[in-house]
Amino acid sequence: MQTPHISVLLNEVLQLLDPKPEGFFIDGTTDGGGHAAAVIERIGEKGMFLGLDWDKGMVERLKETFSGKKGKIMLEYSNYAEVKEVMERLGLPKADGLLLDLGFSSTQLEQERGMSFQKDELLDMRYDLTGDLPTAADVVNGLTEEELANVIFQYGEERMSRRIAKRIVEERKRKRITTTKELADAVVGAVGRGYEKGRIHPATRVFQALRIYVNKELENLEKILSECDAIIKPGGRIAIISFHSLEDRIVKTRFREMEKTKKGRILTKKPIIATEEEIRQNPRSRSAKLRGFEIASN
Ligand SMILES: C[S@@+](CC[C@H](N)C(=O)[O-])C[C@H]1O[C@@H](n2cnc3c(N)ncnc32)[C@H](O)[C@@H]1O
Repeated sequence: MQTPHISVLLNEVLQLLDPKPEGFFIDGTTDGGGHAAAVIERIGEKGMFLGLDWDKGMVERLKETFSGKKGKIMLEYSNYAEVKEVMERLGLPKADGLLLDLGFSSTQLEQERGMSFQKDELLDMRYDLTGDLPTAADVVNGLTEEELANVIFQYGEERMSRRIAKRIVEERKRKRITTTKELADAVVGAVGRGYEKGRIHPATRVFQALRIYVNKELENLEKILSECDAIIKPGGRIAIISFHSLEDRIVKTRFREMEKTKKGRILTKKPIIATEEEIRQNPRSRSAKLRGFEIASN
């Protein structure tokens, strides 16, 4: 039995997006449909909902979850970065609101995709298991030492990136690195267990870097942000929850640029974060940051 994913900042998202009856809302990262169910409830039978996920299995399950629901509910297996193309294909108008709740879910964490070094699993890390993305193992064994160091530095902000990349290359000469444990061991071998006084596991940033690189997470985010006004109607809203500083920086910077170029206004001067109560109930919410933007009304 898989642990259901607990939606983070649910009330805060609803407040920000403010879904009204008969509205049209898009969830670009629907997963198990926690946020989606609350939005669908608010828009009612005459509303429209488009839910995307890059994980095909998740979309199949969602179709079952929402099968009895009234109203126009469309669920599509797609990268959210392609939402404009999906809307064109389905002949949809611009939406009243868009939600992105980035990263992976607790359900995926349990699906042995090698997202975490807490368990020994095959190094995969893809959300989209059916597409043609390389796995994390392909990346770890395929990039040059310099390329690996750059990925670890750029997407993990890891200052020991060169030393770690060197060690990975030494290890893979002996044997292809295929599991989370082999990778985590190589990192510990490079920097030592006491690295950063044990505040975080030495492999944390390397795993984050690989996941971002494998799934092109920052490119996807940049693309959808550059197309907001083609996706959302004037007066419509965007809510984005991010879980690490690289993503949050992109959202913050793009929202500022959009405000400067009169594309609309920022709804959250500071990011909305989880209350202590929510963090107690769902520790994953600790690093969540929610930002909102409203597209200018013409
Ligand atoms: C944190 S979960 C979303 C949880 C959901 N909001 C809920 O309340 O149940 C993130 C989901 O985004 C999906 N995802 C990640 N990157 C994606 C992308 N580029 N396009 C579409 N879905 C993506 C993952 O497969 C995962 O199912």
